[in-house]
Amino acid sequence: PIVTVEEAKRLAARAAVDQFIESDTIVGIGSGSTIVYVVEYLRELLDAGTLRNLRLVPTSFQSRQLILDAQLNLLDLDHPGLFAKATGPKVIDVTIDGADEIALPCLSLIKGGGGCHTQELMVASISKRLVIVADQSKVTEALNTVYLKGIPVEVVPAARLLVERHIHAALEAKLPELQVALRQCGHGKAGPVVTDNGCFILDLLPGQQIPGALLPEIQSTLTAIPGVTSCGLFLGMASAALVCSSDGIVTCHT
Ligand code: A5P
Repeated sequence: PIVTVEEAKRLAARAAVDQFIESDTIVGIGSGSTIVYVVEYLRELLDAGTLRNLRLVPTSFQSRQLILDAQLNLLDLDHPGLFAKATGPKVIDVTIDGADEIALPCLSLIKGGGGCHTQELMVASISKRLVIVADQSKVTEALNTVYLKGIPVEVVPAARLLVERHIHAALEAKLPELQVALRQCGHGKAGPVVTDNGCFILDLLPGQQIPGALLPEIQSTLTAIPGVTSCGLFLGMASAALVCSSDGIVTCHT
């Protein structure tokens, strides 16, 4: 490869900013390692005077911290100012975010590898555009072929067992090899991952290639279970994906 994976993430991030971010707008900032380069580049362009007056809405503790550390204008999701002037719900002009897997041609996504998908979904839901940035390794033809850790499902802690039971009951006929795993922390802390919302993550491991036609059903099944805050399937939400290949070329998929 001509460029490293890190460099590919950086190039995709910069291309997304160049192509989609304008002055005097409200921008959603996703979570993960690729988004770090988005924030870094926004700081550069604001310093250079190329961009002016951006207000940034975070999607996680990490993303909020990136905004604060770069001394950019933070606009929290629960700040009334975010909703003050607009009439409809789409108050954010563009959100740039990463993904764990991007399926072409529909731009279906798996997100939540970092456990932040509920806030990412909330921010995406009020964005006019959701633009995904990634290196080529995330791209696939059908979901669950690259990110083999399944579909992340965030749950209220006390609901973990009942959600597991509901998932098996609802989906086992179609996905007989299905397993559900409580995501564990590691990194010097015993016990489960606790999200920014104080919730747990169940990873739904389908044990097979998920037929594309089944994705909407899986999504609606999961999100209808009491105690589930959201699942990491983002279907029909992304408007573009900027992907950088190992030769350093960024392609915009729409
Ligand atoms: C966070 O929960 C995820 O949805 C991230 O957007 C995703 O993991 C992308 O992160 P990277 O840019 O580190 O791959």
